[in-house]
Amino acid sequence: MDNRFGIALFVVLSIAYQAHGAVNCTATGAGRFADPADTTCKNYTLCVLVPNTNTFVAYNYVCPTTSVFNPASKRCTASSNFVCNVTAPGSTTTTPAPPAVCTADGYVADPSVTDCTSYIECVQINGTFTQTVYTCPNGTLYNPNTTLCEVNYVCPFTCTASGRYANPQDANCKTYFMCVLNNNGSFSQYQYTCPSTSVFSPIARMCTTSYTCNNSG
Ligand SMILES: *[C@@H]1O[C@H](CO)[C@@H](O)[C@H](O)[C@H]1NC(C)=O
Ligand SMILES: *[C@@H]1O[C@H](CO)[C@@H](O)[C@H](O)[C@H]1NC(C)=O
Ligand SMILES: *[C@@H]1O[C@H](CO)[C@@H](O)[C@H](O)[C@H]1NC(C)=O
Ligand SMILES: *[C@@H]1O[C@H](CO)[C@@H](O)[C@H](O)[C@H]1NC(C)=O
Ligand SMILES: *[C@@H]1O[C@H](CO)[C@@H](O)[C@H](O)[C@H]1NC(C)=O
Ligand SMILES: *[C@@H]1O[C@H](CO)[C@@H](O)[C@H](O)[C@H]1NC(C)=O
Ligand SMILES: *[C@@H]1O[C@H](CO)[C@@H](O)[C@H](O)[C@H]1NC(C)=O
Repeated sequence: MDNRFGIALFVVLSIAYQAHGAVNCTATGAGRFADPADTTCKNYTLCVLVPNTNTFVAYNYVCPTTSVFNPASKRCTASSNFVCNVTAPGSTTTTPAPPAVCTADGYVADPSVTDCTSYIECVQINGTFTQTVYTCPNGTLYNPNTTLCEVNYVCPFTCTASGRYANPQDANCKTYFMCVLNNNGSFSQYQYTCPSTSVFSPIARMCTTSYTCNNSG
């Protein structure tokens, strides 16, 4: 065993190329799927369900460096873990960067954002994790439970400043969050429930009976 674990980070500016998706998302449903037209096993498609129309939008991605997409585990993995029928080409430019969030192949929430708009793709290649940051397609948010970008996902509240804040997931406006700044710059987050018939007013930032809750849920 060697302990040469390291981190390489790819910041993906223009996230996905939206093209003639070789994956038929109507047939596959939501999720990540190997591009059947790609004999190098590097290209995959993220199918996002648009609930209103019950249709899908396809976003195409390429697994980082030498990794390949394993259609069984539905994630990028080192080419030593999954043998593609045709040998994969490789190499893109890498920029080393700090946050080491990867512990296994797969997808994790991007800890540098609290609004669920981006996530990190983890691929362990030869003892080194490659972390690629992706922004969810416009109009979708990253759901850590499904590891997918989803139209209807409601991002849980996370403190970014001191004070009291409405709970966006509470349709009845009864609960709110208190954010307290710690000495080390992080925030402690506490959830409270307004007493009796009062509700939390995001304008007054307090519990009141003179506010009409109109959260759609
Ligand atoms: C995609 O799959 C659906 C359902 O299987 C099928 O009805 C449709 O014709 C397919 N579209 C294309 C472009 O192949
Ligand atoms: C895989 O993705 C790359 C990058 O966009 C693209 O140039 C290439 O044509 C794709 N390969 C296939 C077989 O679609
Ligand atoms: C590659 O795929 C073809 C067809 O799916 C299969 O017959 C062949 O055994 C595979 N080769 C390897 C090395 O896995
Ligand atoms: C892993 O790294 C070692 C040393 O850097 C190299 O010799 C070996 O070829 C690599 N293996 C793979 C599968 O990339
Ligand atoms: C994102 O989508 C919304 C509507 O869904 C649209 O108004 C907005 O312009 C889009 N933004 C970008 C950057 O595409
Ligand atoms: C995600 O999973 C956790 C634990 O299984 C559960 O408590 C939580 O409600 C789930 N969240 C969503 C949005 O599904
Ligand atoms: C910061 O301080 C809080 C409260 O003392 C503690 O719970 C938290 O773990 C600390 N965070 C870090 C990153 O040190």
